[in-house]
Amino acid sequence: MKTTEETTAGGGDVRLTGISKTYGDFTAVHPLDLTVPEGSFFALLGASGCGKTTTLRMIAGLEEPTAGTVHLGDQDVTALPPYKRPVNTVFQSYALFPHLDIYENVAFGLRRRGIKSVKKQVEEMLELVQLGEQARKKPHQLSGGQQQRVAVARALINHPKVLLLDEPLGALDLKLRRQMQLELKRIQTEVGITFVHVTHDQEEAMTMADCVAVMNAGRVEQLGTPADLYENPRTTFVANFLGTSNFIGAEVDSTSGDDIVLKAGGGKLVLHRARASAPATTGGKILAGVRPEKISLTHADDAGGIPEGRNRITGRITESSFIGVSTQFVVDSPVCPDFEVYVQNVDRDARLVPGAEVVLHWNPAHTFGLDAAQDVDAGVGTAEEEVA
Ligand SMILES: Nc1ncnc2c1ncn2[C@@H]1O[C@H](COP(=O)(O)OP(=O)(O)O)[C@@H](O)[C@H]1O
Ligand SMILES: [Mg+2]
Repeated sequence: MKTTEETTAGGGDVRLTGISKTYGDFTAVHPLDLTVPEGSFFALLGASGCGKTTTLRMIAGLEEPTAGTVHLGDQDVTALPPYKRPVNTVFQSYALFPHLDIYENVAFGLRRRGIKSVKKQVEEMLELVQLGEQARKKPHQLSGGQQQRVAVARALINHPKVLLLDEPLGALDLKLRRQMQLELKRIQTEVGITFVHVTHDQEEAMTMADCVAVMNAGRVEQLGTPADLYENPRTTFVANFLGTSNFIGAEVDSTSGDDIVLKAGGGKLVLHRARASAPATTGGKILAGVRPEKISLTHADDAGGIPEGRNRITGRITESSFIGVSTQFVVDSPVCPDFEVYVQNVDRDARLVPGAEVVLHWNPAHTFGLDAAQDVDAGVGTAEEEVA
């Protein structure tokens, strides 16, 4: 899909420098530096009101920044009106022209620019979004997912350097949304241009994006690949917003080589130094985090069989919910009253029921360490509330 002109123009990087937006005395976006690499699928992820749309609109030129600059490649576009920027936006409401058929909706951008021979390009675009068969239908005759694909084709036919998508799948039901996530990802891979995708849905961001910026209250809290954000969250907000985390308030007991030995609830735990995002000085506090699926659950009667060298905590099961692929347990322990543990359904131990005394154990490498001076529950529930 790329033409020589597009690839050599080198214009696909989006670079925000010190960009901010205030409304009166309210700051929607705090000064922000962000580079979106050319050709990447980039997600801005965060709860409602955290400043995602405002950031996107500043890239599009639909919102004037209070301070800072927007570059596309080497070009400073801060002062350019939206229509002069090589950028197109797809919104949640597809805003197709109801009286035009699909073909003419897609052709619209070319016709407006006075281009007469649109057939080849329109057909290519319809092919790309797999709607060749639907060309002569009207928008209302298509499903929501198909209409959204028309909106994407209509934007891409203008050959933008960057496609901005603001919650484009928000109006679709869950199943269709899943399909469209894969579909949009395929389209992006095929056309190879930069996509900046705004969503409040962490699963959506993780599935689609090469790189995710997690936003919280007008700031980018952390930036990384989905796996990196999930495995190495640097704040409780990111740890809780992307999936579920358990936190243990611990004290640094000693350090030895690459290991940090922690004291928690009368026991010891090991944290690898490379996984501590806060300084660990003897006597200092640290939050030890571990994801529910990294933990094994062993009935207390079998505790002798747990291999040496694993982090372990004793507790009592308070809840268990069988969900087919796994069972989700809640365990009351001296270090955390509601430890969450997900056990894969391989060989189910019938003794693991509420009331059972158990040992939770995991590989120390799966522990991450965070600054203890933050709210353990930051970001909890924000993702779920939105979806509901
Ligand atoms: N035109 C405006 N005037 C005043 N406040 C605004 C305006 N636009 C957005 N905001 C506020 O800025 C914050 C960020 O909004 P927005 O970028 O739309 O968030 P998101 O897209 O992450 O839900 C919100 O608190 C919103 O109410
Ligand atoms: Mg928004």
